[in-house]
Amino acid sequence: MPENVRVGIVGLGRLGRRHAENLAFRIAGAQLVAAASPIEAERAWAAAALNGVTTYPGLDELLAHPGLDAVWLVTPTSLHADQVIVSITAGKHVFCEKPLALEPSDCDRAVAVAAGHPRQVLMVGFMRRFDPAYAEAKRRIEAGELGKVFAIRCVSEDPVDPEGFFVRFAPTSGGIFLDCCIHDIDLVRWMLNRAEAASVAAVGSRLMYPALGACGDVDTASANVAFKGGQMATFYVSRTSHRGYEASMRIVGDKGALDLGAGIPRLPLTLESDGGRSTAGQVDFFERFGQAFLDEAQAFVKAIQCGKPTPISLEDAREATRLACAMRDALKLG
Ligand code: NAI
Repeated sequence: MPENVRVGIVGLGRLGRRHAENLAFRIAGAQLVAAASPIEAERAWAAAALNGVTTYPGLDELLAHPGLDAVWLVTPTSLHADQVIVSITAGKHVFCEKPLALEPSDCDRAVAVAAGHPRQVLMVGFMRRFDPAYAEAKRRIEAGELGKVFAIRCVSEDPVDPEGFFVRFAPTSGGIFLDCCIHDIDLVRWMLNRAEAASVAAVGSRLMYPALGACGDVDTASANVAFKGGQMATFYVSRTSHRGYEASMRIVGDKGALDLGAGIPRLPLTLESDGGRSTAGQVDFFERFGQAFLDEAQAFVKAIQCGKPTPISLEDAREATRLACAMRDALKLG
C-alpha cells in the first residue's frame, strides 16, 4: 500500500498533456516520476513543465524506471492492447485511455493476461462515469426513482472541425463508434446494469468531411441497440456540431425520466442582440469533463492505495469495444 503511487505516463499528445499535468500537480497520493513519447518536442515539454520527471522515448524504457508502481497510457488506440499486456506483465498497475482496443479479440488477450495478475489495479478511461450528472443519474436509477428503465437516448457531438483533426486521427482511432460513441456505450451498459445487447443497426454520413472515407469513417452516425431484457438505446454521434461540444442523455423508465447534459453553456451568460438571444456553447471535452478527468485519476490512485478493484473493469471495456465494433460493422454492411 504505497503512500505515494509513482506513475509513469506514456503519450503526451492532445490528452496526454492534460493527464500528465493532473498527475503531476493535482492528484493526491500520485507522484508523476516518468513520461514517455517518441516525439522529442513532447519530451522537452515534459522535462520543463512536469516538475523534473525523467523522460523516455517509449514504454519499454519507461518500464525500467526504478520504483515505478503504475503506467498511465494515453497513446494511439491501435497500440493500447499490446501496451496494456506488456505493462501488466511487468508487474505494474495500469490505467489505459479508452477504448481498450479496436477489436474484441485484442481485448480478450488483455483480459486473459489481466486474469493472471489479480493484485494489480487495471482501469480504462471512461471518465464520464465520474461526471456528477451521469453519476447522479446512476444513483437515482439505483434508488428506483425511474422505476424500470427501458429506453435511453444518447447524443455526443464534437464541434465542426475545419482543421481536419478527425481526418488525421481516424486511421488510429477506429472511427466514430470506437472513438466517440464508446463513451455512451459504456454509460448505457452501466445505467442498464450490464445489459447484454441482442441486435445492432447503424447508419452514417460523411457529407461534411468526405476525406474520412479513406479509412471508412463517417462524420455523423446513429445506431440503435436492442437488449436481451427488452430495453433499447439510441446513439447519435457527430463531428459536426455548430453549437460546440455536447454530451447528453435521456433515460426513460416506467416511473420517470431524466435528462442530463444538454445545452450546458460555456459561461452562465446570455447575450441579447438583434432581436435574438444567444449563449456560448462549450468548446471541447476538456471544458465539459475537466473535473471528471481529475476524479477518475483520483479513483485510480485510491484503488491502488486501498488495494481495491476500480469501478471500470477490463471486462466492461471489452464489452464496450464489442458493441462499438458491431455498430461499425452494421454501418459497413448496411
Ligand atoms: P494524440 O495523437 O494527440 O497523442 C498520442 C500520443 O501518443 C503522441 O503525441 C505520442 O506522445 C504518443 N505516441 C505515439 N506513438 C507512440 C508509440 N509508438 N509509443 C509510445 N507513445 C506513442 O492522441 P490523443 O488525442 O491524445 O489520444 C490518445 C488516446 O486518448 C486515444 O486512445 C484516445 O482514444 C484517447 N482519448 C480519450 C478521450 C476521452 O474522452 N477519454 C479524449 C481524447 C482522446
